Amino acid sequence: MPSTAARVIAVVSQKGGAGKTTVAMQLAGGFHASGSSVLLADLDPQESAFRWAESVSLLDSDLQLDVRKMSGLELIKHVAELQQEADYVVLDTPPSIYHPSTLAALAVAHLAIVPAVPSPTDLWSTLAVERLILNRMEHSHRLHGCILPNRVQNTALASDVLELLHEFTLPILDAMLCQRNAYAQSAVIGASVFQLGSGADAAQKEVRKLVRAVLQQLGEQ
Ligand SMILES: Nc1ncnc2c1ncn2[C@@H]1O[C@H](COP(=O)(O)OP(=O)(O)OP(=O)(O)O)[C@@H](O)[C@H]1O
Ligand SMILES: [Mg+2]
Repeated sequence: MPSTAARVIAVVSQKGGAGKTTVAMQLAGGFHASGSSVLLADLDPQESAFRWAESVSLLDSDLQLDVRKMSGLELIKHVAELQQEADYVVLDTPPSIYHPSTLAALAVAHLAIVPAVPSPTDLWSTLAVERLILNRMEHSHRLHGCILPNRVQNTALASDVLELLHEFTLPILDAMLCQRNAYAQSAVIGASVFQLGSGADAAQKEVRKLVRAVLQQLGEQ
């Protein structure tokens, strides 16, 4: 059992398909791979993270991440206990920033990560999420927020997109996930890219960098 209460990291976005579940699962896999204990709470009624992790049990229970489905109310009620159980608690949320479970996640989180696909339309919708997080930060001194570019293609971080990223008040994480088959593949096997072996080297490197950037945001590195 960890000696201090776990840091809580929420992955939030307004847009469906921005990569919340992918980022939450890979981040949890990255913590696990670096030797930390991690617990993933799935607050999305679609239960994607829960089902994702469930499929691995057929293959190898050692690889299985601890994923628990719960409502926002249950999270608020039990967060202190969850924080005693692991080093990090990662929260996957529904694709709406007004959903009670998303608001509950922001109420208990130390860090909110907003995955943003670097296309102009996606980035504009991210501004709405940012407004909510900035507003929540005024109420919770514990909460920090950051943007994580996801599904980045070679050409995607072109100058116009970089210019859009500068529109944000929240910091852009010093990490990104590129568009890679390894992320989709690991969803199929119900684990993270660390279980895909050496074929997923590039993705594993990205996730390790994500873990380091998150620790930096949490003031732990
Ligand atoms: N970096 C990436 N590279 C390749 N595929 C990705 C990447 N990020 C996400 N995807 C794929 O995009 C799809 C949507 O991702 P995901 O389910 O993580 O989004 P989400 O924000 O959780 O969606 P929802 O809002 O519906 O819960 C999935 O098929 C996933 O495998
Ligand atoms: Mg999801």
